[in-house]
Amino acid sequence: MEGLKRKDLLDIQSLTTEEITLICKSARYFKDLFTRSIKTVPVLRGKTVCTLFYEPSTRTRISFELAAKRLSADLINVTVAASSVVKGESLIDTVHTLEAMKADYIIIRHAASLAPHFLSKNINASVINAGDGFHAHPTQALLDAYSILDKRGSLEGLSIGIVGDIKHSRVARSDIEVFKRLGARVILCGPPTLVPDEFSAYGVEISYNLDEIIPELDVINMLRLQRERQKGSLFPSIREYHQQFALTVDRQKRGKQDLIVMHPGPINRGIEIDHQVADSPSSIINEQVTNGIAVRMSIFYLLAGGTPLEEMEKV
Ligand code: CP
Repeated sequence: MEGLKRKDLLDIQSLTTEEITLICKSARYFKDLFTRSIKTVPVLRGKTVCTLFYEPSTRTRISFELAAKRLSADLINVTVAASSVVKGESLIDTVHTLEAMKADYIIIRHAASLAPHFLSKNINASVINAGDGFHAHPTQALLDAYSILDKRGSLEGLSIGIVGDIKHSRVARSDIEVFKRLGARVILCGPPTLVPDEFSAYGVEISYNLDEIIPELDVINMLRLQRERQKGSLFPSIREYHQQFALTVDRQKRGKQDLIVMHPGPINRGIEIDHQVADSPSSIINEQVTNGIAVRMSIFYLLAGGTPLEEMEKV
């Protein structure tokens, strides 16, 4: 197989399982570069990458920017709040302007689900989805899968809990798809208002009791309560939410000794996860961030037509 035979990376559903595996394997090669004194390679020399974020971001935007720089691309970071978007310029006009400046890759985050899919049909540049509404966050899911592979070698047969605000989470939707594709058992957990029944159609198990499921889990992925997206009161109080669904020190002790603790960030310490757990040796939250750069380098490399690297066979 050669690279990704596609212009864009929009969601996990549109990737084959072979492509998901290829992205993770080539990420291993790019992660090895981080230990070298010269960390850049000329994969994207002469190419222009634009980050266009209509929603705030720390991890994803900086990670894409660093990945592009390490691949020797020219980088433009569009600050939407300081752009002509505030004068009413439309998404498509903004992106056509970037294309007129010869942008080769548009990395977009947008509050509207499917905004990246709309762009992909209307522009020639490669579009990479950095998070659209509640719909998808494919590069986060790929880095999550890579991070588990890095620790365990395989997801086959692992029990992975995704806990918290599933309803409003694009990360959960993409994680479910990638974890299941790689052979994991996925259990969603949270209050019924945040884990609607319709998720059972995704082929996952649903639990409303974290204490019951925690001993079974190999990996627990805690999600942020997205209070900015919640309409009305979806649980009685933060205190009650913490009592029932937070990953506390006591709950962590009831899990397997080698339980892997994950969180896509940003974390709300003391709400969905206690700070002692977030900072414990079982937590790979910071490794996820580092791995995100390697995974995004891999995605750029493969979208640019890169072929499998010999070193990948070592993974
Ligand atoms: N995980 C994630 O998407 O974080 P940011 O919102 O900081 O990019």
